[in-house]
Amino acid sequence: MNTKVGIIKGEKEDEIRIKEAAEFIKAGGTVAFPTETVYGLGADALNAEAVEKIFKAKGRPQDNPLIIHVASKNIEAYAKEIPEVANRLIEKFWPGPLTIILRKKDIIPNVTSANLDSIGIRMPDNQIARKLIEFSNTTIAAPSANISGRPSPTDFQRCIEDLDGKIDYILGGDQSDIGVESTIVDCTINPPMVLRPGGITLEMLREIDSRIEIDKAIMQKPNKDLKPKAPGMKYRHYAPNAKVTIILGERKKTVEKIKEMVHYNIENSKKVCILTVEENAKEYTEGISIILGSGKELSTVARSLFEALRKCDDLKADVILAEGYEEKGFGVAIMNRLNKAAGFDVIEV
Ligand code: TXA
Ligand code: MG
Repeated sequence: MNTKVGIIKGEKEDEIRIKEAAEFIKAGGTVAFPTETVYGLGADALNAEAVEKIFKAKGRPQDNPLIIHVASKNIEAYAKEIPEVANRLIEKFWPGPLTIILRKKDIIPNVTSANLDSIGIRMPDNQIARKLIEFSNTTIAAPSANISGRPSPTDFQRCIEDLDGKIDYILGGDQSDIGVESTIVDCTINPPMVLRPGGITLEMLREIDSRIEIDKAIMQKPNKDLKPKAPGMKYRHYAPNAKVTIILGERKKTVEKIKEMVHYNIENSKKVCILTVEENAKEYTEGISIILGSGKELSTVARSLFEALRKCDDLKADVILAEGYEEKGFGVAIMNRLNKAAGFDVIEV
């Protein structure tokens, strides 16, 4: 398949490119597009055959449901039994990085929801994404635009890397601002529950309903007694080729432990990357330090995390040593993604 690339350049012709992409969606094709969280791989959510192409292009397990993307807060065509708390979440956080799970209407084909009777819905904040949805005149089902299991792409070059030749169109915009996927809140239960931490923190959600909790199963290694409620959270994910280990603890001890591990690995002829923050980077004199951002501003760390994991692959690293973060605010989403990349291999110091 020949994949066409249209790059948004902040000029008049941009609209033509978005319309061109929308024509592929309308015709049942697949389009990668920017969102504020990560790039998505979209198809018409109401067209079962089109949605099947997403699963095929990504190599995605059939039991993993997709999120549908809308350009308006009016979702009555797709969801039924919309509780009051869902309306309040929508009012406060849409457009933005929040996916709400509701009971689905029959118009949503089973392939889109992976045979569940619920559906995740999100209104992205990114203008290009919203225009694409509007011009397509439908709702767009879109998982992250990566091959299943790889880190989600935060720029269009990474979409090309994973999906060139497998999809119809790549709409290239800016780098994703948030860098981790949307927060998923299940509103089919009362009180609602966070199934995946993301761009909207638990603290922010609790301003709407103080009873909201995070699914306990997602912050630890999945086991048979405690399974994550979001099907996608059970898979190994965000995994670069290198072996990832998280070192978690007080700053000084973390740095000391990492320095010792870097030295040991280099002695054993391994290529080592360190995922660090600007405050700590100068401490590491061996190995390749990749600065994610500032430890004082965790949104900067979230923004560059997936790109950093991919860069480690480009560098052919054997070992990735990642500094851990306190599970508070944005730290929850960052640790969730790191834990999955590391297969929950954490050394506490
Ligand atoms: O930020 C995002 O949400 C991005 C952008 C493209 O919008 N999309 C995204 O989609 O991350 P994906 O497919 O990579 O992740 C969707 C997650 C999966 O873990 C899936 O299992 C869960 O949402 N999910 C979807 N529908 C669900 C449902 N009805 N019940 C429970 N979990 C659901
Ligand atoms: Mg994904």
